[in-house]
Amino acid sequence: MNSDAIGVFDSGIGGLTVVKELKELLPNENIIYFGDTARVPYGTRSKETIIKYANQDINFLKNHKVKMIIAACGTVSSVLGANAPVKEIPFTGVLLPAVQTACGITRKGRIGVIATPATIRSGSYGRAIRTIKPDIFVAGSACPLFVPLVENGFFGKDNEVARLVAKQYLAPIIAENVDTLILGCTHYPLLEDIIADIMGEGVSLVSAGKEAAKHASAILTERELLNDGKEKGTCEFYVTDSPEMFAENAKIFLGYPIDGEVHKVDIDALQ
Ligand code: DGL
Repeated sequence: MNSDAIGVFDSGIGGLTVVKELKELLPNENIIYFGDTARVPYGTRSKETIIKYANQDINFLKNHKVKMIIAACGTVSSVLGANAPVKEIPFTGVLLPAVQTACGITRKGRIGVIATPATIRSGSYGRAIRTIKPDIFVAGSACPLFVPLVENGFFGKDNEVARLVAKQYLAPIIAENVDTLILGCTHYPLLEDIIADIMGEGVSLVSAGKEAAKHASAILTERELLNDGKEKGTCEFYVTDSPEMFAENAKIFLGYPIDGEVHKVDIDALQ
């Protein structure tokens, strides 16, 4: 038993989709969330910048004595790969759990991946998929407008702007006749209804964030690190931009008002 918190980070608010899953799977766990809201998006930045930011995010969580770190960001997971600077406690990104699930459910061996430009450029999803199943066909599409659309509330099933953009981004994936589609960015579950509608019934969607939460739960269980306390876990949030704006937007991501304090972090103090 270990009552230390699970540390979760993202470039901004998208990682809350992982927090939502974690709270459902492991309601007794304490969570510390770090969202780099002043520097979102990461997905349109260079590899060097993403690595620098990710290291700072990880150091911030390490300084809060967490028992595990989850990179709830597809971009960081793809760019860091196996080189995350976390050795002393368990670590997971969102990429490998999603890839394992997608490889397990594809019927025709044709998988699509939608993600940020940095993730698609890294080629990490394709490499990871082919490590598990070398003969699988992978089609990727970068969707740079999805994150700003979601951050600005453009994701409802009937939102015509989001639908139009999604149709354009998904067209090359549909043309490749995939049967499984990985939502490789933790912002995308908010667009899941629209994406599912456009892809059609024959295509299974795999949410990278959801798979990461399941994977984290399995690791903590296996290593006997779960918090066995009977009380509901607490959540603490740390952001680099306005806590008020974060709390307001968090409601949309979580589907309920945020139930923990939101603290402002001085971005210049990050190491
Ligand atoms: N949540 C991030 C991800 O999963 C996307 C936002 C960004 O570009 O920073 O890639």
